[in-house]
Amino acid sequence: MRLHNKRALITGGSDGIGLAIAEAFLREGADALIVGRDTNKLDAARKHLGGNVETLSADLATSAGIAAVVEQEKKSARPLDILVNNAGVAFLVPFETVSEEQFQQSFALNVTAVFFLTQRLLPYLAASASVINISSYFANKMIPNRPSSLYSLSKGALNSLTKSLAFELGPRGIRVNAIAPGTVDTAMRRKTVDNLPAEAKAELKAYVERSYPLGRIGRPDDLAGIAVYLASEEAAWTSGGVFAIDGGYTAG
Ligand SMILES: NC(=O)c1ccc[n+]([C@@H]2O[C@H](COP(=O)([O-])OP(=O)(O)OC[C@H]3O[C@@H](n4cnc5c(N)ncnc54)[C@H](OP(=O)(O)O)[C@@H]3O)[C@@H](O)[C@H]2O)c1
Repeated sequence: MRLHNKRALITGGSDGIGLAIAEAFLREGADALIVGRDTNKLDAARKHLGGNVETLSADLATSAGIAAVVEQEKKSARPLDILVNNAGVAFLVPFETVSEEQFQQSFALNVTAVFFLTQRLLPYLAASASVINISSYFANKMIPNRPSSLYSLSKGALNSLTKSLAFELGPRGIRVNAIAPGTVDTAMRRKTVDNLPAEAKAELKAYVERSYPLGRIGRPDDLAGIAVYLASEEAAWTSGGVFAIDGGYTAG
């Protein structure tokens, strides 16, 4: 098992990509603490995962939520080997209509939470810890009729943070990488697509089918392999990378 005896914290581990990563980590022998807001979703995830799973309900878009996670870690007798900053929010709204509230919510979760959660967990990280940030292809590549200025800006900032932290924390032995998934079929994606008018939905479906060289969008589990690799000793010399896992989408 590639993550035997490792402890992992996965934000947004109760659904979608985070849940698939938690499942893969457990399969590889890790213990996991998963964080989300909705206790029902957390309970369902714990049942689904079985194994050594702790859950914590906290809103990471708030300082109190970040503090609650740090408090929980403080209580642990073992250092944290793997931190997956996965929880995120996507407002795909036209630039001219983005509200200050949406801007702040987006940055609070996609950037500020990653910055301060990682900073405040530093004293509890293992000497050779792996930090994995879940970014998005949207940092660099846009989709017609999917206005992404706010979301792209937040994920671009996350990529930049990934590289600067790899540089700053490397001398301590801490590795920092990001995974940039293509479109993945999760609740987040369904929420943004379900709001589209029927014609735009059909257009998007056709666009996706012709744009993904591998012919389909992703499943949450498609991100699990790279996450296990980055968390494991096999990636001992891998840091500062932003790994596109997207069925070839950004190759074009
Ligand atoms: N799906 C895609 O197509 C796609 C593509 C590229 C990148 N991504 C990125 O992948 C990551 C995961 O997305 P996903 O599609 O798997 O989303 P998802 O299925 O909607 O799951 C999001 C997870 O984050 C938790 N969460 C949301 N807001 C939170 C908050 N304020 N505090 C704590 N936990 C919170 C959710 O639980 P609660 O709701 O209970 O809090 C849930 O566990 C995000 O960073 C996203 O930007 C997604």
